[in-house]
Amino acid sequence: MAILSIPEQNIEIRDSKEIKEFFNARGIFFDQWNCSVVFNDEATQKEILDAYSNDLNPFMTKGGYVTADVISINELTENYDAIRSKFLAEHTHSEDEIRFFVDGKGIFWFNLETEPVFNLLCEKGDLISVPAGTKHWFDAGENNPFVKAIRIFIDMSGWIPNYTASSLEQNFSNFKMPV
Ligand code: LAC
Ligand code: NI
Repeated sequence: MAILSIPEQNIEIRDSKEIKEFFNARGIFFDQWNCSVVFNDEATQKEILDAYSNDLNPFMTKGGYVTADVISINELTENYDAIRSKFLAEHTHSEDEIRFFVDGKGIFWFNLETEPVFNLLCEKGDLISVPAGTKHWFDAGENNPFVKAIRIFIDMSGWIPNYTASSLEQNFSNFKMPV
């Protein structure tokens, strides 16, 4: 279940309906999909995508998205530190960045520039779409990362991060992942 935090205001919101309203008011799509299937480490991308097809297929058709895949990061991931730093620096993309969490967790940080930075801890069942051009960064934590997420996109070239070089993310490096 997602948790919304605004660190500079000491605000933490755990109510899904409130979180949805918060994001919708800012033009950011957030949703939650249910699935009772529990996947083990050997689950294939296809098994995972099929299990969510009831929600995934209509979502993709409606949004004009053409491709979906599954990304897995865990404590065995090689070069995790390098992967982490790539996501951790503030950046934008030319297309929406859509992630659905099948398992694990990670924090999406948003800098809308017109208000204090806020973040969303995403966990199993949470779907977030970071709009194209929105400044953001992501962290699955320094140690023991675990992310299994569906990525939905139109064109992979939209994934290229355009770094802002603001270093803003460093102001929040002490933030503790809520439990
Ligand atoms: C990305 C993230 C995680 O660009 O922001 O893939
Ligand atoms: Ni990104």
